Amino acid sequence: MKTLIKTGALLSAAVSLAVLSGCESASADKSAGFTGKLSPVSQTAVDANASASGNAPLSPLPDSVPVPPDNKQTEAKIALGKLLFFDPRLGGDASVSCASCHDPSQGWAWAEDLSRGYPGTVHWRNSQSIINSGYYPGSFWANSVPSLEKQAPSAAKGGVAGNGENDIMESRLALIPEYKKRFKEVFGDKTPLIGNAWRAIASFERTLTQTDTPIDRYLKGDKKALSEQQLRGKALFEGKAACIQCHNGALASNMEFYNIGVPPSKRWEEDGLAQITFRFELYGKGSTEELYRTAKADPGAYFRGKNRWDLGKFRTPSLRYTMYTAPYMHNGAFYTLEEVVDFYNKGGFDEDNRTTGWPKTKSKLIKPLGLSDNEKEDLVAFLEAFSGDEILMDKPELPEYAPMFTLDELKEAKK
Ligand code: HEC
Ligand code: HEC
Repeated sequence: MKTLIKTGALLSAAVSLAVLSGCESASADKSAGFTGKLSPVSQTAVDANASASGNAPLSPLPDSVPVPPDNKQTEAKIALGKLLFFDPRLGGDASVSCASCHDPSQGWAWAEDLSRGYPGTVHWRNSQSIINSGYYPGSFWANSVPSLEKQAPSAAKGGVAGNGENDIMESRLALIPEYKKRFKEVFGDKTPLIGNAWRAIASFERTLTQTDTPIDRYLKGDKKALSEQQLRGKALFEGKAACIQCHNGALASNMEFYNIGVPPSKRWEEDGLAQITFRFELYGKGSTEELYRTAKADPGAYFRGKNRWDLGKFRTPSLRYTMYTAPYMHNGAFYTLEEVVDFYNKGGFDEDNRTTGWPKTKSKLIKPLGLSDNEKEDLVAFLEAFSGDEILMDKPELPEYAPMFTLDELKEAKK
């Protein structure tokens, strides 16, 4: 209860701070309430405040993942989706599968700051773990696609990810008898339809969940599931450090968008390929000429509605499974949870005092926390409670191509 009151006070302080410090144009008659137009900076703070649900408590993740009515889970579909997830023939040059960038032994992600890309490219963002992605209302750092069914083709076809073409990928599937058989069984397809490949992959992803972490056990009543240190960390998370404002509910994320101050990727200064992808993505997402020429940082959620107040904002990520998914943030700016906590403790600045390339939209909720070294350790220990055992999986044996017709059949057809 104490925590809630504290957080509430913190939130209203954030708003009044925003209203006072902004250079708003209207003469502020406080008793009448503020009716003038807010400066974009203040508007951002107010929006962030409105969406920060500081009083949503942490809660256990339900065992069953939401399933869309038009893509029911069946064992055969999940098994097919697993094969396809690991199959590089669903991509351009048949060398990159989903699992290439969502490697089970790298937290179902890719353990570099920016993800590996399609051969000859570097991706522009950090690869996200797909563990628990079935619970998300949308996919990607900016939540830009609404479902796993829609996410899969955008990954397999995206220029710096799979770079595949529908017709070629579909032809490949048609030449693999085992797939022909399975698509027929699962979807009734005469020959495999590419759209059904994405549905099967989505079904497989929905099985990659983790609901038995220490925090789940604790919240379900096992008071021994967290150590003394983790309990101290939990109190900080919900109180002094105020992480709960955005990392709350069952996913430890409110799924809202904030600019918390993550500095631009250093790779962009050093690595030509990474810089090229960045410009390519800006162009592809329809950025303005000015942005294309001058942007030095990822505009993030800006592309959702081309609103300047969304510049540099990203979806609050879930804290689940993060023990295995370093590096962290949309561009992998931090390699350890200790670094993340230091960053928050400094009010959203890294060890070199760098912060976001979009300072005007930085959330007012991010401010120096004044944590001691012991408190920082307690908080990190608590973050580890959001992860259970590592989920590992061997690459399945993939079915082989076979010619569509045997030589004899061809000869027969020629006669
Ligand atoms: C070349 C690397 C690469 C390949 C190949 C790739 N991904 Fe990704 N994936 C990424 C990156 C990087 C992100 C984050 C991108 C962003 O936010 O813009 C991502 C994000 C995702 C997400 C969103 C998770 C979340 O937290 O919202 C899902 C789901 C996903 N990928 C599934 C897939 C599937 C399925 C495939 C195969 C069809 C695939 N990916 C292929 C790199 C890749
Ligand atoms: C104002 C909302 C907000 C608050 C408060 C907040 N976070 Fe975050 N957190 C985010 C967003 C948004 C990101 C992603 C930012 C990005 O990539 O640019 C993030 C990223 C993270 C990540 C990286 C996760 C990953 O998968 O890469 C960790 C860990 C984290 N936060 C922990 C914390 C802790 C600990 C606190 C409290 C000290 C905290 N957060 C407070 C919104 C918030």
